[in-house]
Amino acid sequence: MRPRRRAVLALATLVVGAAGCGGGGGGDTGPDAAVFVSPYLKIEASTQRPGDAAAGYSALVNKGYVNCGIPYSLYRQAFGAAPERERLDGREGHNPELPYYQTAFTTRSGVEVVSANCLICHMGEINGELVLGLGNNDRDYTIDAAQTVNAAAQLVTDPAERAEILKFAERMTAIAPYTRTRTIGANPADNLAAVLFAHRDPVTLAWSKTPLLPLPPEIVVPVDVPPWWRMKKKTSMFYVAAGRGDHARIMSTASTLCSDTVAEAEEMDVYFPDVAAYINTLTPPPYPFAVDTALAERGKVEFGKRCAECHGTYGEGATFPNLLIPDALIGTDNTLSLGAGQFADVYIDWFNGSWYGQKSHLQPERGYLAPPLDGVWATAPFLHNGSVPTIAALLDTTKRPKYWTRSFRSTDYDEVALGWQYTELPAGQDAEPNQANKKKIYDTTLLGYGNGGHDFGDGLTSDDRTAIIEYLKTL
Ligand code: HEC
Ligand code: HEC
Repeated sequence: MRPRRRAVLALATLVVGAAGCGGGGGGDTGPDAAVFVSPYLKIEASTQRPGDAAAGYSALVNKGYVNCGIPYSLYRQAFGAAPERERLDGREGHNPELPYYQTAFTTRSGVEVVSANCLICHMGEINGELVLGLGNNDRDYTIDAAQTVNAAAQLVTDPAERAEILKFAERMTAIAPYTRTRTIGANPADNLAAVLFAHRDPVTLAWSKTPLLPLPPEIVVPVDVPPWWRMKKKTSMFYVAAGRGDHARIMSTASTLCSDTVAEAEEMDVYFPDVAAYINTLTPPPYPFAVDTALAERGKVEFGKRCAECHGTYGEGATFPNLLIPDALIGTDNTLSLGAGQFADVYIDWFNGSWYGQKSHLQPERGYLAPPLDGVWATAPFLHNGSVPTIAALLDTTKRPKYWTRSFRSTDYDEVALGWQYTELPAGQDAEPNQANKKKIYDTTLLGYGNGGHDFGDGLTSDDRTAIIEYLKTL
């Protein structure tokens, strides 16, 4: 254990012990659930609470787990009903008319508010279709999200509503500077969690206006939102396999924006096993274009030789090994695996010493989990940071563009290379004066945006590579 981490952990254990609930937190935080199978780390399964998938879907699209937002009355003045394609079934109250990524609910103070839900990040578009569980890949987190909320707060006069929007504005103002990415589509969730942990007492979960821990650097580590359908095979959550123990409780940290007491967190903790159960029922959308079956069969054989050891086997009798590949062997950008965002020691220690740490713990590894490749055709761009636009480029490092841009239209799909149609550019963000164009550039020279590593496709003949790509369409 690194010295700083040990010191903070000791402190956290003391705090937890003094509060009389050391039993869960301390004991769960040791390095466990991973066995070293040279040269990879196998991440072993931990016990999960059972849940009801149908109840989980209903909770996901109806419950107010974010616990604050914009007063519904104000929302209605600004926005009409959502277009048909953005509506979801099974929604209650005002929710049938809201877009999938927003939920209306009543806060403890009795005010109906609207806030974003999990699907703002976990529902994405591919080939013109919105798919629940596909990671969003085109939202713009380069802007200052607090500005609009602060401006909107000026319009609210009702005292109860005003108290609600001011609370929401306060939280948004706290996170805004630390959650701005450099590129559209890159997600700041790992930094967001870090800021929220920094503002909360780990034991009481009370919000502190001034941060109790150092804040993360304003440079946001970019993450490509992973598809939810992987979770049924995974024994841990997150790219660095950090999420161990009870996954439902880790998912409920999405409520750390505004839940300020253990009582509120416990209320949500009751239905998060249902949400987890629902997530485990999801399957990827089938590849919508033609597949050359004979070629795919040949690709399956090659995949078995070169890829299955890490990524598992598919179809009848499928297997998945849950292997964490250390940085030195995978070689992809290691900004995240070195401990960025919520995975920096100080936040790991916060989590493991907190109410959340009583049932789960964060234990990031210095490397990346080889993910299940189910529905991989739909999950472009590739790698944990979304740095590679197509699978053809992923499997041939000489083809990876250093600077690239795309239309962000999900129909601009490349059926040959399997991924986004993109334009390679001669220079990066620094050379682009226009802000609107700049943020559309994926610049692999920025910190955390690197596109190196995973060179396992380099030794393939171009025929074998084509065959493997054909096979990947069938997963
Ligand atoms: C602001 C965007 C955002 C929101 C909101 C969000 N997530 Fe995520 N989620 C992410 C990102 C990004 C990751 C990947 C982080 C990583 O691995 O480092 C992730 C990872 C996950 C994973 C693990 C997936 C895997 O393959 O390891 C699960 C499960 C999950 N989220 C569930 C939820 C649930 C449930 C909610 C709502 C309660 C939620 N998320 C809200 C962005 C978000
Ligand atoms: C030594 C283990 C290992 C081998 C062998 C391997 N991979 Fe991977 N693969 C990984 C890891 C780890 C990642 C995640 C790396 C990251 O995100 O930084 C990954 C990521 C991927 C992704 C990106 C998934 C996504 O949605 O972003 C694809 C596609 C992929 N691998 C395909 C293949 C194919 C095809 C082969 C065989 C030619 C192969 N891999 C061989 C470990 C491996």
